[in-house]
Amino acid sequence: MFNIAVAQSGGPTSAINSSLAGVFAGAAATPEIECIYGSLNGIEGVIKDNFIDLRKILTSDYDRELLKKTPSTILGSCRYKLKNPDEDPSDYEKIAAVLSKHNIRAFFYIGGNDSMDTVMKLDAYFKEHNIQIKVIGVPKTIDNDVMNTDHTPGFGSAAKYVATSLQEIIRDSRVYSIPSVTIVEVMGRDAGWLTASSCVLRANGEPAPHLIYLPEVEFSIDKFLDDVKEAQKRYKAVIVAVSEGIRCDDEKYLSTGFSSELTDAFGHKYLSGIGKYLENVTAANIGCKVRSIELNVMQRCSSHIASLTDINEAEEIGRAAVKAALDGESGKMMVFRRMSNNPYRVEILTSDIREIANKEKKFPVEWINNEHNNVTTDALNYFLPLIQGEPEIEYRNGIPVHFRLDQ
Ligand code: F6P
Repeated sequence: MFNIAVAQSGGPTSAINSSLAGVFAGAAATPEIECIYGSLNGIEGVIKDNFIDLRKILTSDYDRELLKKTPSTILGSCRYKLKNPDEDPSDYEKIAAVLSKHNIRAFFYIGGNDSMDTVMKLDAYFKEHNIQIKVIGVPKTIDNDVMNTDHTPGFGSAAKYVATSLQEIIRDSRVYSIPSVTIVEVMGRDAGWLTASSCVLRANGEPAPHLIYLPEVEFSIDKFLDDVKEAQKRYKAVIVAVSEGIRCDDEKYLSTGFSSELTDAFGHKYLSGIGKYLENVTAANIGCKVRSIELNVMQRCSSHIASLTDINEAEEIGRAAVKAALDGESGKMMVFRRMSNNPYRVEILTSDIREIANKEKKFPVEWINNEHNNVTTDALNYFLPLIQGEPEIEYRNGIPVHFRLDQ
């Protein structure tokens, strides 16, 4: 008999708890696994020996189902970068001691490309010191920018929220007879996947957003204003989707200077405010009614409009992670490979963590139009299967019920 531990790391998603439910289900179905520990606040919880016994928390099928549909991370998260062990081995020594003390033989880290740095470093350290603990990464991020996987859990639900919200914004923007421009700022930092996914509205004959701007190609204010003026010739209410991370010619974020200069432990800037900036620029230069909307954290925690495909896949990939560890794998991240689009089918495999950690998968430039202000049908075909289906949501007093650790 042995124990396992699981933790959640990085920015939340609507599906990260579903992967936790998957790891739990995989472990609970394995007779040799006794305790299933949840580490609070990612790897910080392991360093501080701060675990909860998930078997005591998830006591029924109802709990596990509710957990799957609850957004954000019930275990809390972190953006903690392990130092190189040659520089400072203290974290590694603590982690190895804590995991060994609890007879934990497998550690599952649900996170994005930065969190995979932790998986890579821990696996290398354990192997070098002959410590028998398997380390497996389970991907998640609304940014969809993790290498070697077709897509990441959490992305489909965020894409569904962005498209649904945009459609509602479109309805609102058309009510007056006067011309208007509405700019919607979407998360994704250095990768434009989520902003690009707003193109799915086209599948239902909706031409908006009329303009889509991504960080993968250079952004110019003059060109943006020309694009808006051109779009205004055809549409009374112009809708623009813009990534928080768009860059100008010198490769700097356009938001440099007015968004916070604070960075996280991995050196990433907190980006915010590009929509407001473009609103002011548009108002000053074009002079019509302009609004900007920052979708902000809603796009990563809006489980009431989650994608069932995403929620189910997130659970499956968590369950598959347990199987991979039991099969003796370590230093791997679980990945999806798309087998076909119609019918949509994926298989789950493992991939070497060293090919993934700290790298970013960008939105393909071939899927951006020549004008650099929209995306192609290939993008639409890639996105559509990921947003299909809706989980059944339980409501209490008219409000969706969430799984809460504090109850
Ligand atoms: O990692 C995903 C993400 O939501 C990015 O899209 C965004 O730029 C960043 O996290 C925000 O970071 P934080 O959660 O620390 O505010």
